[in-house]
Formats: sequence, structure tokens, C-alpha cells
Amino acid sequence: MKAYSISDSIYAVHADIETTDLFEGIWPIPQGVSLNSYVVTGEKIALIDLFRDWSDASGQVEKALVSVGLNFGSIDYLILNHLEPDHTGWLREFRERNPRAEILATAKGINLVKSFFHIDQGLRVVRDGDTLDLGHGKILTFFETPNIHWPETMVTWEPLSGTVFSCDAFGSFGALGDRIFDDQFTPEELAFFEKETLRYYANIVSSFSNFVERGIQKLAGLPIKVVAPSHGMIWRKKPQAIIDRYLRYASYAKGPAEKEIAVIWGSMYGNTKQGLDAVIRGIESQGVPYSLHRVPDENVSWVLADAYKSAGLVLAMPTYEYAMFPPMAYVLDIFRRKHIYGKTVLRIGSWGWVGGAKKEYEAAIEGLKWTSHDALEWAGAPGAEDLAALEEAGKKLAQAIKEG
Ligand code: FEO
Repeated sequence: MKAYSISDSIYAVHADIETTDLFEGIWPIPQGVSLNSYVVTGEKIALIDLFRDWSDASGQVEKALVSVGLNFGSIDYLILNHLEPDHTGWLREFRERNPRAEILATAKGINLVKSFFHIDQGLRVVRDGDTLDLGHGKILTFFETPNIHWPETMVTWEPLSGTVFSCDAFGSFGALGDRIFDDQFTPEELAFFEKETLRYYANIVSSFSNFVERGIQKLAGLPIKVVAPSHGMIWRKKPQAIIDRYLRYASYAKGPAEKEIAVIWGSMYGNTKQGLDAVIRGIESQGVPYSLHRVPDENVSWVLADAYKSAGLVLAMPTYEYAMFPPMAYVLDIFRRKHIYGKTVLRIGSWGWVGGAKKEYEAAIEGLKWTSHDALEWAGAPGAEDLAALEEAGKKLAQAIKEG
């Protein structure tokens, strides 16, 4: 790993993480994730954000520091925008390597330094608008941006280069390799990262969408030239593109979202699937784009991403032991936690000897502000009348999404 120059004396030093571990212990990252730190050098040297020591992140970042004549011992100030351990897990080791560096964070952040790492010396609380003069004209300003992603979060602003170091905000899943700037990737690679940005947003940030909007409003007066998050690429060619993308994602939490339908289904013996095929014929007749997600085969991380961005949902599940198909119950629980609000929804499903999914389903979606089309349920295998009704229901849902 090498350091990448953002501007005069400002460098990105990142670690690419390739792991079978789950991000936050929940979300798969088969294409990895980057943990980005940044160095700002004046007379004094600041390191912005740290990392968890996955995939030898400390070795990767150390090599990058050495490539510009620095090491962990050179750091005068360690700025922690956010205390989640993906950005701080190596803090005790850092402290052992560098006992003198002052650690800066918001008041809530400093409390977390104490509770997570039992470090209580060399700490400085920074408040909204506070500055840190590094000398040689490098002055950092801190802006509190709570709940992007935890309550203690802030961003760091460097005005000479116009760089906002935004930590989780404007981040993405996906390892970077040997390129780090938005203008270095091909259109295909940018499309990959766009999907991974949506998945990251839906998995990690969606519950805090009101705060994303407030945070972006707060930064609106800054002449931002570079967006430097601590996951994913650095935006120097089109910084507004990632800001606008995050604003669009934040708006999905209020609904409506994109004119698409996420079809989420589970089937035990193929009877619900037969009914679903008819619904899909109805959707296709209207030309509305849709995505297909079978549960539990597909991890909820991807289900969540497409459900979050789609205005319409089809939920197809059999009754299972007088209640919902259990993998769908899990999906709906995640939807509630992640604010999958304001969707237009069609539920269908087969039952064996008696129904029962309805009652549990209605309790599960309470408070999600969904517009429900009439559910269709049938006993055993769907007959010709059932299939005709299901196709019509798919058509009506697609029309509603198109017109919505
Ligand atoms: Fe990348 Fe909320 O930590």
C-alpha cells in the first residue's frame, strides 16, 4: 500500500479488507471494504480516523505512511470522527506505539474512547466549529454530524484543499485495490461501487436518514472540492455526485422511492412459487423493472438494498405452522429496524391445512406506513382462477408503481 496525495501535504492511507467476517457481525462483504485514514501535515501531523486490524490493516497503513516518510510514531494528533470499532479497533495498539499523540473527538466520542478502550490520558474534547491549527496554514475545523452513524459522529474540514473527511457518511462497501479516486475507475467499476454504496447505505445508515439530510444541510455552505470518506473511494472529480446520491437514498426512507418492484419470495414445495410466476407475468406486462430475491437463499443484506430503493414490494410466502414463513419474518423484522417505509405492497402465498400468516404479517408491518394491495392466499396449489387473479394483482401493482 502507498499513500495517495489528495492535495499539498494531505494523503489518503487506506487498508483494503478481504475477509469472510461479517461487517458489524451481520453484513457480508464478499468484495471487501476499505478502511480509509488520512494524514494532514503542517508543522504538526494529524491522522484522521483509524481502523480495525482486519487483513493486517495496521501493516497496510504503516506501509502507506512510510511511503511518505512517516510512521505511527510521527503522529501528533489522532482525530476520531466516529468511534465504531471499524475505525478505532486498533486504538490501544496505536497508543502503545505512540503514547504522546493527543486524541481528539466529540464529548460523546471521548466517552466512548474511555469505555471501549480504557484510555483516559491525552484526550481532547472538540465541539462544533472548533479548530485545530497544524501550522503551515493547515487548520482543521470540526463539525458535529450526530447519528451518521453513531451519536458522537463529526466530520473534519480542511479549507485549503476543500476536503471534507466524512467517515461513514458518503461511504461504500467494496475494496479499492490500487486506485482510490472517483476519476480512476471505469464506468463498470463505478456501477459496481454504486450498488455497493446503496447496499452499505441500506444496511448501515438507512435508519439515520433524517440525520443524513440534516448533516448534508449543515455542510451545504462549505466549498467542498473533495469528499473523503473512511469507506470507499474519494470523490475529487464529482464530489457533488456522492452527496446527491446520499440525499436521494435518504429520501427513500420517506417514500416513494424508485419506480421499481422488489420481489421477495420463499416457497416450500413450489405452490407459492407458481402463484408468484403469475404475479410476475402481470408485472412484466407493464414493463416495470423488478428484482427477484429468494429467502433464505439470499442474504438479507442484498434484499434490504433493493427493497429500500424500490417503491413496490411483492412478498410471497407460504403459511408455515399457522404463521409466516420464518425467513420472511426475519426479513420483515430487518425492514422495520431499517425503516423500509412508504412502500406499495402485494402479499401472496399458499397455505396447507389452514392459513395464519396474515395475523403475524399485519403485526410485523405495523408502523411501516405501507399501502397494501389486497392480499391473495390460496389452499395448496393455485388453480386457474387463482392464477388469473394473481396475474391481475401483479399488473395492478405495477400500474400503481408506474403512476405513483
Ligand atoms: Fe464505519 Fe459506523 O462505522
